[in-house]
Amino acid sequence: MNDPFLVFPDLETDRLFLRQISLDDLYAMYEIKSNPKVTNQYGREPHSSFIQTETWIRLLLDNFRDKESLYWKIINREDNRIAGSITLWNMELESRVAEVGYELHPDFWKKGIMQEALKCIIDWSFETFKLNRVEACPIQGNSSSIKLLERTGFKLEGTLKERVHFHGKFLDQYYYAILRKEWSTGE
Ligand SMILES: CC(C)(COP(=O)(O)OP(=O)(O)OC[C@H]1O[C@@H](n2cnc3c(N)ncnc32)[C@H](O)[C@@H]1OP(=O)(O)O)[C@@H](O)C(=O)NCCC(=O)NCCS
Repeated sequence: MNDPFLVFPDLETDRLFLRQISLDDLYAMYEIKSNPKVTNQYGREPHSSFIQTETWIRLLLDNFRDKESLYWKIINREDNRIAGSITLWNMELESRVAEVGYELHPDFWKKGIMQEALKCIIDWSFETFKLNRVEACPIQGNSSSIKLLERTGFKLEGTLKERVHFHGKFLDQYYYAILRKEWSTGE
């Protein structure tokens, strides 16, 4: 296998470019990470300063250098705007498993953009890392993410009861996964 951590793997789909994030994307990423409509859905507080977003981008770049995770910005080819991001993290390559995470600016919701990006990343990760499974872990109430996962073929494997504490409530977290054999047979 060519090492995908040597040169960042730029990808593209019909409507999207998937590229490595950089500090030049600070403002666009801050617009997403500081929006509570976005961050509430995964149970995190929004960013409250550019510095916080800058520190976070630097961490993502370090994680790539340390071969721990990959983080793509999603560029909408039509207007060249950053629509959001998608990441492969919590990678355990000995077991050939990784988790996927994603978020979009609300301007880009309900256009099928994340489904297009997600399919591309699943294809790429099964092919490149020979993964056996890709996981995703939405929290209770995140119906858009759950719909996206189920539409893409992920299956619910279990519920971690009251796993996330957010805004004074304990929320369940759902464990979804798609297996290589399900993806390649199109089940
Ligand atoms: C999760 C999230 C990325 C889902 O975004 P989304 O736009 O609903 O997802 P998709 O890309 O799958 O788009 C599907 C919707 O676009 C619609 N759509 C419009 N044009 C489409 C097209 N050309 N192709 C496919 N779907 C299209 C679909 O009908 C569907 O609408 P529906 O959900 O009402 O049925 C978004 O809600 C988000 O960023 N949330 C905040 C962050 C977050 O929760 N991340 C996940 C943590 S686990």
